Formats: sequence, C-alpha cells, structure tokens
Amino acid sequence: MKFFVDTASLDEIREANDMGVLDGVTTNPSLMKKEGDVDFHERIFEICELVDGDVSAEVTATDFDGIMEEAHTLAKIHDNVVVKVPLILDGIKALNALRDEGIPTNCTLCFSPTQALIAAKAGATYISPFMGRVDDISSDGLNLVQQVVEIYDNYGYETEVLAASIRHPMHVVECARMGVDVATMPLDVIKKLLHHPLTDSGLERFLDDWADYQNQQKEAAAA
Ligand code: G3P
Repeated sequence: MKFFVDTASLDEIREANDMGVLDGVTTNPSLMKKEGDVDFHERIFEICELVDGDVSAEVTATDFDGIMEEAHTLAKIHDNVVVKVPLILDGIKALNALRDEGIPTNCTLCFSPTQALIAAKAGATYISPFMGRVDDISSDGLNLVQQVVEIYDNYGYETEVLAASIRHPMHVVECARMGVDVATMPLDVIKKLLHHPLTDSGLERFLDDWADYQNQQKEAAAA
C-alpha cells in the first residue's frame, strides 16, 4: 500500500519524508490556500524536488479547453506531476485526452461507484474516492471504497484506487484490508498510525528496569 501525504506544506512533507514511508503527495486548492502567499507552480516544483513519487496538482478550470491548458502547464513543471481533474463531464473528456498524451491523472471528488467506473473507462491513472466527506453526510465512506475496489477488480481496470479524505487510522486499516492501492492522509494521521499506549508504557518499564539493572551492576562491582 502506498502512503501519500495530503498537504501543500513543505515542512509537513519533509517530516513525512524523513520517516521513510512516503510514496507521494496530494494537494488541492484548499490546501494551497492554507499556505498563504506562495506561488502555486513554484510550490508544486518544490514539492516534486523533495519527494521521489507522484505529486498531484489540481486544475481549477471546469471546461475541457481550460482543463487541458492547465494540465499541460502543470505537467511541464516536473516529471512527478500528476494532474488532478474533477469528476465532471468535461473532466472525463480531459482524462481521455490526457491518457492519449501520456499525462498521468488523478480523478478527484469521487463520491459514487458509478463515477469511479466512468473515470476508469476514461483512463484515469488514479481515482480519489473521498471517504471522510461521505461519512460527514451520514453515509458510508468505507462502503464506497469497497464498491470501487470490487468493480475495478471485476474488470481488471488499471486505474489505482487512491483513498482520500482520510480522517483517522481506522480508515487506513480498512483500506489496507480492502487492498486499496494508495491512502492519502494528513501528516497527523500518518503519525497516529504508529502510536500504541502499550508500546509507550512497555518502553517506559523497560527503560526503568534497565536503569535499575545498571545500578545493581554498579553496586555489585563496588561491593
Ligand atoms: O485531497 C483531497 C482530500 O483528501 C480532502 O480531504 O479532509 O478536506 O475532506 P478533506
């Protein structure tokens, strides 16, 4: 399972990268807004230079020509760029055209299995079902991802399932059990994956006992 970090913050990306478990990055316009006064294209280039993996950069045009123009500009920034395209009619047309041009894509804002099916037929490199946002409206984000995985498996679609809008470690566990290809998550969730209170208390006890043992050794040597 690949881990992507869902952020446009260089500090967060560095921190995730330093753990040695990072396979890529996803960004979106809302994550860019959080960064304040930074140039979008420059930031995408900086991220690509930091990370050895795919970096999703999103178009903001909603018409075919506009999406294609932005996609070409983004793809020129760096070889790691994956163009993020919204799951709308003109987006689907653009996915087809970008596939023909060999430009990798991440089809975003997927909330139903029918949308995921269309994206796969259009040749998206990745499909991004938004788990957390489905949960937010009292529906079942896990069930959405499960249906997408099943449909893709049935037909051997090459589009990779990139679970997005992940909010907590159990989302990641369930995705891993379903065989999802990629999980993109905030740095905070990546860090939470390694925490266990029994590890903390167990380590504390080992270190205390080690200190006691060393004191015993010293006392024995002095006697
Ligand atoms: O990258 C898109 C997705 O992960 C957004 O997550 O938490 O804003 O629903 P969220």
